[in-house]
Amino acid sequence: MTKQNVYIETYGCQMNEYDSEILAGILSKTDKYNITDKPENADFILLNTCSVRENAEITIYNRLEHLKYYKKKNKNLVVGIIGCMAERLRKDIFSKSELVKIVIGPDEYRLAPEILQNSMAGSTGIAVRLSRVETYEDIEPLRKEGISAWLAIMRGCNHFCSYCVVPYTRGRERSRSVNSILREIEQLQTEGYKEVTLLGQNVNSYRDEQNQVDFPNLLRKVAQTAPNMRIRFVTSHPLDMSDDLIEAINEYDNICNYIHLPFQSGSNRILQLMNRGYTREHYLKKIEKIKNTLKEYSLSTDIIAGFPTETEEDHKQTLDLIKEVRFDGAFMFKYSPREGTKAYKLNDDIPEEVKISRLNEIIEIQNQISKENNQTEIGKIREVLVEKPSKKKPNEWMGRTKLNKVVIFDNSNAKYNAGDLVMVKINRSNSATLFGEVLE
Ligand code: 5AD
Ligand code: SF4
Repeated sequence: MTKQNVYIETYGCQMNEYDSEILAGILSKTDKYNITDKPENADFILLNTCSVRENAEITIYNRLEHLKYYKKKNKNLVVGIIGCMAERLRKDIFSKSELVKIVIGPDEYRLAPEILQNSMAGSTGIAVRLSRVETYEDIEPLRKEGISAWLAIMRGCNHFCSYCVVPYTRGRERSRSVNSILREIEQLQTEGYKEVTLLGQNVNSYRDEQNQVDFPNLLRKVAQTAPNMRIRFVTSHPLDMSDDLIEAINEYDNICNYIHLPFQSGSNRILQLMNRGYTREHYLKKIEKIKNTLKEYSLSTDIIAGFPTETEEDHKQTLDLIKEVRFDGAFMFKYSPREGTKAYKLNDDIPEEVKISRLNEIIEIQNQISKENNQTEIGKIREVLVEKPSKKKPNEWMGRTKLNKVVIFDNSNAKYNAGDLVMVKINRSNSATLFGEVLE
């Protein structure tokens, strides 16, 4: 029997990238499906979707319009929506687009082979139950490239920030066993991977109850297991980030001193409405601990502008916090009301133009700080993990420093390959990128 070709397109966060690899692993393990990177050859096109902001969902509806083109060329093509949007909208998706025949939520990927099979005979398929135990720890992900790997150590979220759909689309927190994680890390190292990013909506809540291992101790074990790999992790929650985690980062050279710590708002009143569970003062104390413990560090964050009732004074406190911490980078968003969340019941009372102007102000200040921080890199020699040709010029390649800064360098003679570690002298920088030359 010839195999069916499945094309998976991923939107949203790194967890979604990883989930696509899990689903690809599940499908390719059967002898019925082949994963393709060419939508024009596909028998199935599956969109792994994000619901975190309304725009993420609009992008998917636009993409579905485009997919009609493929359907015209191949009448047997089956289109599916998987991931967070599948979980949030469930069977309603069928009525939003007649193209969609498959809907699978993040905890039901094991059912995908059967659902795909049934859909070939014309029936629609839906699986959207959330699980309290599913971690896919026995599934081998089908990874795309061989340098940097994602590895989910926990799934779901128990925090219920008032603006956020994630607890509804990904369910409750659950952790993978420490042994299964270490086994996979060993395997990645053997296969030649140079970097692993441990993923979780809130990695600090990781806990293997049976073996009494928390996140800082997991990190220590991972660092010991793969001494030659760079170890990264996202995302940390300021409430659960312990001082012990910062100590653990400090103890091992191969744990990258890059911490993504979303603060969302600088105003205590807004933080409370967001149900974040910490104050501005608590957040700043954590940052101080990081700055006092680690000789070098890189900090990034997430910020939301225009949450319901946000005043100019609240907004100013956000700006002040950005200036005080001086993050290396930030993901900055306009508040987007999401149905079903607590904040949805609040009046979305900040006018669009005010949200936009506050967001622009945040972006402008942060970009200036990123630029200034990157200027301090000029003249330094950094170890860079070579990744791939840069987007702009094929003879220039990009890689990353341990502190997660993107570095562009000349590779005209094709001397350096993906996965190499090279020493680069930084000559120039802007707010997003460093430029340098490889030292021989
Ligand atoms: N509106 C705007 N931004 C949001 N985020 C999560 N939910 C919303 C929302 N409803 C942002 C937060 C989070 C990041 C992943 O997305 O900053 O940290
Ligand atoms: Fe990731 Fe959240 Fe978007 Fe789901 S809703 S894909 S968890 S960012």
